[in-house]
Amino acid sequence: MLIKSLKIVSFRNFKSAMLDFAEGINIFYGKNGDGKSNLLEAIFVLLLGRSPRGANDAVMVKENAGIYRLEGQVEIDGHPHIIAVAYQIGGRKRITIDKTSAKISDLFEKNTAVSALPADIEILDGPPAKRREFINIYLAQASQRYLANLSDYYKVLAQKNAHLKSANEQETPYDELLVKHGVFVMRERKNFLGAIGVIAAEHYRKISAGQELTIAYSPSVHIGDEQIDQTHIEKNFREKLFRYREREKILKTALVGPHRDEVNFEIGGFAARTHGSRGELRTAAISLKLAVFEYLKQVRKVAPILLLDELFGELDTNRRDKLIESFGEFGQLFLTTASDVPENLSKKGRHYRIEKGIVNAE
Ligand SMILES: Nc1ncnc2c1ncn2[C@@H]1O[C@H](COP(=O)(O)OP(=O)(O)O)[C@@H](O)[C@H]1O
Ligand SMILES: [Mg+2]
Repeated sequence: MLIKSLKIVSFRNFKSAMLDFAEGINIFYGKNGDGKSNLLEAIFVLLLGRSPRGANDAVMVKENAGIYRLEGQVEIDGHPHIIAVAYQIGGRKRITIDKTSAKISDLFEKNTAVSALPADIEILDGPPAKRREFINIYLAQASQRYLANLSDYYKVLAQKNAHLKSANEQETPYDELLVKHGVFVMRERKNFLGAIGVIAAEHYRKISAGQELTIAYSPSVHIGDEQIDQTHIEKNFREKLFRYREREKILKTALVGPHRDEVNFEIGGFAARTHGSRGELRTAAISLKLAVFEYLKQVRKVAPILLLDELFGELDTNRRDKLIESFGEFGQLFLTTASDVPENLSKKGRHYRIEKGIVNAE
């Protein structure tokens, strides 16, 4: 998996830019606010159709522009493709692969990318929606069926919410479909978090010299601890829906299901969200992304494109080298820095200087 070039029009602070990338390491230098993170975001949006920090499309359109467009040459399984993602304010996002109209799910099927950003600590200390968004972006890269069920689930959920708001006294007819797709979503989330939890804990232990990071899935519906039994979860789901029926009618919103899932992170036995120090949260966030990178590499049988934003800012040289090593064999790497990067990376990488939304390859 490789991105060879990127053409940007009216994205964030970039008016227009044309970039050719190296197959290995690409390093973006520039001062604060010049557009380094925006450039990583553009790459992520091209590959997966959405912002790695959960920004909506309208805010990514350049001020006063009305539309953004990204086009890139991408190599997938050794075959070249041209991907384009465009969004017009007030309109819909349009994706094409080789000039043929495509869906976000097509991008998730073809491409894989992992970003590590300063904003990642919100996965640990932000609202629950941040944790669900994290799961969705990465689990959907590992499982097409997850993405399909998730999107069906959200469609039904929107219908149910509309029904609850319409003050229609009839029982909502949507619960059976919520159960069907919701159970699938929760089972996959459980497996995913179990798998990455083990790897993340290992990395955390190494980086922090022995401290424990634990990740515990706390689904909206009780799904049991050991083997996951489908009928049992369905039963729990229906029962909880029944118990919440009156409350849902009063509040006019759906209260039961994976859209209410939570994930509990603990560091050294304390809830990360309430007790984690900034350093601990940063280390945990990085461990999480290392885990996701390894997991996706294994499942997809190809190294995801790796995007590292200001990863080295707070680390000394020794720790920088160690951190890069812990990603193991990576494929294509993009990294940003306002200062400098480890020498061995710098020597191997292609360098770009970014100044107020203008990119120059060096
Ligand atoms: N939609 C937008 N239109 C124009 N400028 C934007 C838009 N979104 C963000 N910016 C600008 O981009 C700059 C931040 O760029 P960023 O990539 O975060 O910088 P850095 O190089 O520090 O990572 C800010 O000056 C911000 O005002
Ligand atoms: Mg930045």
